[in-house]
Amino acid sequence: MTVDSVTPETGTGTELREPPVAGGRFPLLGHGWKMARDPLAFMSRLRDEGDLVRLKLGPKTVYAVTTPALTGALGLSPDYIISGPLWESLEGLLGKEGVATANGPLHRRQRRTIQPAFRLDAIPAYGPIMEEEAHALVARWSSGEVVDCTSEAFRIAVRVAARCLLRGQFMDERAERLCRALATVFRGMYRRMVIPLGPLYRLPLPANRAFNRALADLHLLVDEIVAERRASGQKPNDLLTALLEAKDDNGEPIGEQEIHDQVVAILTPGSETIASTIMSLLQVLAEHPEQGDRVREEVESVTGGRPVGFADVRSLTYTNNVLVEAMRLRPAVWILTRRAITDTELGGYRIPAGADIIYSPYAIQRDPKSYERNLEFDPDRWLPERAKALPKYAMRPFSVGNRKCPSDHFSMAMLGLITAALATAYRFEHVPDSDGSVRVGITLRPNRLLLKAVPR
Ligand code: HEM
Repeated sequence: MTVDSVTPETGTGTELREPPVAGGRFPLLGHGWKMARDPLAFMSRLRDEGDLVRLKLGPKTVYAVTTPALTGALGLSPDYIISGPLWESLEGLLGKEGVATANGPLHRRQRRTIQPAFRLDAIPAYGPIMEEEAHALVARWSSGEVVDCTSEAFRIAVRVAARCLLRGQFMDERAERLCRALATVFRGMYRRMVIPLGPLYRLPLPANRAFNRALADLHLLVDEIVAERRASGQKPNDLLTALLEAKDDNGEPIGEQEIHDQVVAILTPGSETIASTIMSLLQVLAEHPEQGDRVREEVESVTGGRPVGFADVRSLTYTNNVLVEAMRLRPAVWILTRRAITDTELGGYRIPAGADIIYSPYAIQRDPKSYERNLEFDPDRWLPERAKALPKYAMRPFSVGNRKCPSDHFSMAMLGLITAALATAYRFEHVPDSDGSVRVGITLRPNRLLLKAVPR
């Protein structure tokens, strides 16, 4: 079935179908073994089995959506909430009272609180900080030393998010701590999601102890940020003030736990996704130096040789297309989950209340049915006359509907500026110890990317 011919039925008077069970399952483990062994290939192959297929993950049935149209329908339908294996594993980190894991009226209230800080018209105020950070990064790499892309990408991601949204002054030492803590915590969360061994994770094993230490440090870090702001007595017009001043539906100040969970829920997805995207971008620039040259030419034609600024980014069409193409092939967020809260349907298939649904933006964004030469890195596919031929929802790295990332404009502005500043200053080369193979966790990123930044 092509994406265009999917016409979701209303379920009234129409016989709903049972989605087929995907092939290749093992006794007891079902599809879990293949999913754990090579999740990207597994999720990508499902598209050959149907628009919507059932998977057996151990004793559990999970529904996997494989077409762009149905991912859009899923995101836009009120019949599904944020839940399922990914979110359950993340709740331990993000708390139950933050915007990323809450549902219903609490979620709607929280989105209202944070939204103003991310609105399109709020972004230019962050421009000077983004410029400062992008140019400081360029200057930092001028020594010719090997760049450890993981820690450098985290560092700038945390600095920009914290300086723009929380007006943090402190950031270097905390960025290092956050980077270390998040790496350990996200690794542990992912393991707990794919291999749910419950009580075994409470045993005093070195890996469990490291996980608990990292989680505790992450929460301590957030407490420090909140306490520091309170002690300063200042109320700048930023996201942290909005959180500290937020009221619940009865007009009462929100509780300490909710403030804490909200800061965690913004800082952690914010830094992990941006850092992963910067790593992928650097990898792309190292693998395709000719695209880096074209970025540099475009930037110089717009700036005339002065340092690239925030206001230039919207004129940098090719630069932006390089970024989007990197995000298409190596999306930071590669898997998303929902749970049905009622008996419902999707694409004419029956979905029972309580069913977990998953889909992979990675698989959707690499689907040969949507993309010609699907695995080729081709930034020009985002030229308007070519992009308009793509199926709707074939590229939604920030998702759609009421859970769409609030930070899409913020992220694209920051990443566009970083791409322009780095590619103008350097060519990137792999060094022998670099390991650019993909590391699948809560996000996707290269395992250990080490590059040499060669000044142009
Ligand atoms: C390349 C960068 C980013 C990507 C690809 C990305 C992607 C996403 C996606 C796909 C979702 C929706 C999840 C779902 O539908 O289940 C999401 C949600 C979210 N993102 Fe981002 N994100 C990025 C950057 C950021 C940044 C910088 C921040 C904060 C500073 C942020 C904060 C959030 C929050 C708070 C949510 C939860 C929204 C809700 O549930 O209402 N993200 N992000």
